[in-house]
Amino acid sequence: MDEKLSELEERRAKVLAGGGSKRVAAQHSKGKKTARERIEALVDPGSFVELDAFVEHRCTDLGMDGVEAPGEGVVIGYGKVSGRTIYIFAQDFTVLGGSLGEMHAAKICKAMDMAIKVGCPFIGINDSGGARIQEGVDALSGYGDIFYRNTLASGVIPQISVIMGPCAGGAVYSPALTDFIVMTEGSSNMFITGPQVIKAVTGEDVSAEDLGGSRVHTEISGVAHFRYPDEEATILGIRKLISYLPQNNIEDVPLMDSGDDPGRVDPGLAALIPESSNKPYDVRDVIARIVDVGESLEVQPDYARNIVTCFARLAGRSVGIIANQPSVMAGVLDINASDKASRFIRFCDSFNIPLVTFTDTAGYLPGVGQEHGGVIRHGAKLLYAYSEATVPKMTVILRKAYGGAYIAMCSRHLGADQVFAWPTAEIAVMGPGGAANIIFKREIDGASDPATARSEKIAEYSRNFANPYKAAIRGYVDDVIDPAQTRARLCSALSMLLGKRQTHPARKHGNIPV
Ligand code: HXC
Repeated sequence: MDEKLSELEERRAKVLAGGGSKRVAAQHSKGKKTARERIEALVDPGSFVELDAFVEHRCTDLGMDGVEAPGEGVVIGYGKVSGRTIYIFAQDFTVLGGSLGEMHAAKICKAMDMAIKVGCPFIGINDSGGARIQEGVDALSGYGDIFYRNTLASGVIPQISVIMGPCAGGAVYSPALTDFIVMTEGSSNMFITGPQVIKAVTGEDVSAEDLGGSRVHTEISGVAHFRYPDEEATILGIRKLISYLPQNNIEDVPLMDSGDDPGRVDPGLAALIPESSNKPYDVRDVIARIVDVGESLEVQPDYARNIVTCFARLAGRSVGIIANQPSVMAGVLDINASDKASRFIRFCDSFNIPLVTFTDTAGYLPGVGQEHGGVIRHGAKLLYAYSEATVPKMTVILRKAYGGAYIAMCSRHLGADQVFAWPTAEIAVMGPGGAANIIFKREIDGASDPATARSEKIAEYSRNFANPYKAAIRGYVDDVIDPAQTRARLCSALSMLLGKRQTHPARKHGNIPV
């Protein structure tokens, strides 16, 4: 037995050494941890159980016969994050550059199958040279198998992709099919074709960082959701994200009592909104004063900043918040904001996370660029996502809710369960200035002093229409509330809505505009 045990020890030690001390040192010198170090940093101490450590490749082409690849270049297994089970893979760049061959992919697929079977979040740490060139179509088939599972797992278990190194070529599509992409600054990049190919095909000169680094994907392309300055911060970010999520689509959101009184009244809230309806303010200040202990996790904070999407808690329960941001482009809705918000809404709806919407927007952004870019189909996603969502939906209209934006921002008509309006709300087809110009054109033009006549008409319109009461009279707004009461009313509504059960007509699946 002793002999057998020492053989086991020897074999395991070989696997644990990964690509060897030289390659491990090279990895560390780039500020990168090894695959196992990353997993250990992420999970609760001592909770990780590695599976498939002894898997080997079976490629014999292009000199691969006899090449040892400890662990097949990927570590898989399960562990706990804050006491809750997760499945995980981490590619090991020290072994054949973390390249993905047939058996490497088979390990990832096994972890995914188990995550789906037991209903727990799946986390993938990517650090790889992509398809293992020597394995040809076997490597490609491995990617296909992963994409297939990513798609089947979508909406069943939360999937988080972490990019901590290169992620190139078709490899990017697995992260793209998951719910969240988290990138580490400086050491991660994602692109379909790298700088050399681009230079050859289009003649453009670009560095890997400028092509597909973390800033590009969190600010410009919207591909990634979070970026952190280093691996430690990235790991903490993932743990925080998971804390808001249920384990799967049939579990309720986790309850985390912060001790913040659900009935807490905040008399200072109203003062955050400027008197003039055209003045900006940061809606994140409003959110912070309403949610439990002011804490939230903003999703895509640097992309389409004219809309804010974040996780927070009300009376201990996770909620997904969508809010127009008046301090960026006056909170207008555009293509990117619609994409960002609708994907977030669909994530929340998949995982039973109630939605809270704060409305203050003059509408969709006018412009040739927006029209030619397809604002019609992109904007339609927002309507679709809100209408389709069956989780509790609560809306607070803070100030402007004009035209299509009134409808789109989770109005009663799209199925909001509770709609509140602050007394500052202006619910109308359009703003007073534009409306007066159209409906009172003849009176203004014919007046001896058109400027004064226009001001009078704008004031008349504002008095009569730019308020919440026309909508409240119809019951489209359930109540006009003192801003101080917002948290109390939302917490009460959420508690009342916990039993909500809503089903739509049976169908295979809908066809969301893209
Ligand atoms: C086999 C690979 C590999 C690959 C890297 N290695 N990529 N082996 N297949 N795809 C090996 C290297 O030979 C080297 O082995 C070790 O990993 C580390 O690689 P280096 O090049 O020394 O590291 P570095 O200088 O840091 O550069 C990393 C890199 C570069 C930028 C990722 O290796 C690279 O460009 N690799 C190829 C990327 C690529 O084009 N992949 C295919 C993408 S297409 P030794 O033994 O020397 O340590 C794709 C299709 C998917 O993925 C399709 C899905 C539908």
